Amino acid sequence: MSKINRDLTDVLLTSQKKYYPSRKILKQAIVKDYEKILKETVSDPIKFWEEAARDVEWFREWDKVFDNSNKPFFKWFVGGKTNLAYNALDRHIKTKTRNKTAIIWEDETGRTRKYKYIEVYYEVNKIVNALRNNGIKKGDRVAIYMPNIPEIAFVMLACAKMGVMHSVVYAGFSANALADRIKDARAKILFTADGSFRRGKVINLKEIADEAVKKCRTIKKVVVVKNNKKKVNFNPKKDIWYKDFIKGQSCEAEAAPMDAEDPAFVLYTSGTTSKPKGVVHVHGGYQVGVLRTIKWVFDLHGNEIFWCTADPGWITGHSYIIYGPLLAGITTVMYEGVPDVPQPDRIYKIIQKYKINILYTAPTLIRALMRYGTKWPKKYKMSSLRILGSVGEPINPEAWKWYYTYIGKKRCPIMDTWWQTETGMNMITPLPAAPLKAGSACKPFPGIIADVVDKKGKSVLAGKGGYLVIRNQWPSMIRTIFNNPERYIKTYWSQIKGVYFTGDVAFRDKDGYFWIQGRADDVLKIAGHRIGTAEVESAFVSHPKVVEAGVIGVPDKIKGEVIKAFVILKEGVKATEELKKELKKQVRKTLGPIAVIKDIEFVDKLPKTRSGKIMRRVLKAKELGLPLGDTSSLV
Ligand code: WTA
Repeated sequence: MSKINRDLTDVLLTSQKKYYPSRKILKQAIVKDYEKILKETVSDPIKFWEEAARDVEWFREWDKVFDNSNKPFFKWFVGGKTNLAYNALDRHIKTKTRNKTAIIWEDETGRTRKYKYIEVYYEVNKIVNALRNNGIKKGDRVAIYMPNIPEIAFVMLACAKMGVMHSVVYAGFSANALADRIKDARAKILFTADGSFRRGKVINLKEIADEAVKKCRTIKKVVVVKNNKKKVNFNPKKDIWYKDFIKGQSCEAEAAPMDAEDPAFVLYTSGTTSKPKGVVHVHGGYQVGVLRTIKWVFDLHGNEIFWCTADPGWITGHSYIIYGPLLAGITTVMYEGVPDVPQPDRIYKIIQKYKINILYTAPTLIRALMRYGTKWPKKYKMSSLRILGSVGEPINPEAWKWYYTYIGKKRCPIMDTWWQTETGMNMITPLPAAPLKAGSACKPFPGIIADVVDKKGKSVLAGKGGYLVIRNQWPSMIRTIFNNPERYIKTYWSQIKGVYFTGDVAFRDKDGYFWIQGRADDVLKIAGHRIGTAEVESAFVSHPKVVEAGVIGVPDKIKGEVIKAFVILKEGVKATEELKKELKKQVRKTLGPIAVIKDIEFVDKLPKTRSGKIMRRVLKAKELGLPLGDTSSLV
């Protein structure tokens, strides 16, 4: 309670000012009247999505738009035949888009590459043919553990084109995390790179991949992209360089006609247990949702240069670096590196250099840039920018205003988009024509019915905190959890009857604007990255000196949240600073560098429920000096 009430007071006092779009933005906007479109679409979302589906090409039209006969295994565009990669690529080859730049890439060291649509098309086809020659076929899984380089897009598209599910694992994950995901998906081939640049250092991805592959019997081949000059170990029996893999392959390949409901990819995300969930998205509905949202939220007219600073290893990268921009036939920018190398103006330099029109980034990056001061963005006009976006965690009003003033120069509206790996697309978001409030994700996208409810599913009044739920279904929604349909039902459709349970807490203000507070469950958001407390705890417990651990997220000025751990040591083990360091290392090794441990406290016992569950909320309340209140629930 306390958390929500405090934030609410803050919002009511400071953040109710409305920011209106300029005449120029309104004149251009595809959707000119925000409230009107919401009213028009809310009565018949299915009709709205059927119309949206006409934006992509179908090999065969659907017989039925929406089928809920087997709840909660919903189906969209039943009977329709299509292909996600066909719409992102092949379709454009028939038009003048074929000669447009599809991908611009730059890395930290200043190397750049550009690919036209036709070039991407040829490259993708070569991969398709090489995969087919290696016996990979429709329905198989391919794992991808690569940095933010064009080849990751090529491989993803190739998989989708032939009906193979890709499973991209973020290149910041450890060997163990990668191995777990490969095993769960039973992937047959792994694509990786020799290394990736980060803050001047080379991260040896191949070495991590090798360690993972040792534990995975299903991987028959490892395809390695050469991305830097460092030497890596090479096992000629299993490993092959990417350029040799595609050598001599034909640059033409047919797209596999897929059922609308055939799976396109699996993407693992953290939940409340230590085992990550393989979120499954499909060929038909996913592209419909992604294309409609990218077009309307970022107001695309067809010639934009779009830069989403996420990583392809997360859903934001899947939907808004790769599939979204390519479905829309625009130019997407990929940057492999950190935002402050060689100087804190790197982001502004890239915007200016490539005349970027849309910048879609995360609050954590804005806060990092804020720290360097206004003198850096003030040096750059960034006049090409038209629309800004934010995603991954709540954006605090202070960061919002800074983004608006110093990057957007008070000209560019900010689209604060709330969504999840499971939703596939932006769900609660303004459109450029909407009056904005600093720190609010505004209202549900047309065709989406969101609500804030109590435990029984009853809507709560404006200003009251509650669970964020979605009352209807939408085309790009998760279809199941890979190999675990029961967990799919349990996680999303059983907590509150009849609605999709997001796991977030939120409230609405008197204008119906949504203010997302954060997670209600045991999921952390560290620099926008999703990590389960249970995953971190099991990493601690895997150390021989640890008996038990409870971890919580504590607020951090830049990362939003960082981890504090309460650890019980085995009898006789001495609690030393050295051991703290060792444990931090252990977690990093088990999960990867994204699990940032700020602090470790050695304790004798942990607060628990009668059934033995660790009460993380109690740990958190104590840590933050909040009243313990009703410890059975957050809201
Ligand atoms: C959080 C990322 C507030 C939220 C696309 C959600 C946000 C989780 C926002 C999903 C936002 C994402 N405002 N919170 N604009 N966007 N979140 O699966 O807690 O990595 O449930 O997908 O991020 O994280 P995921």
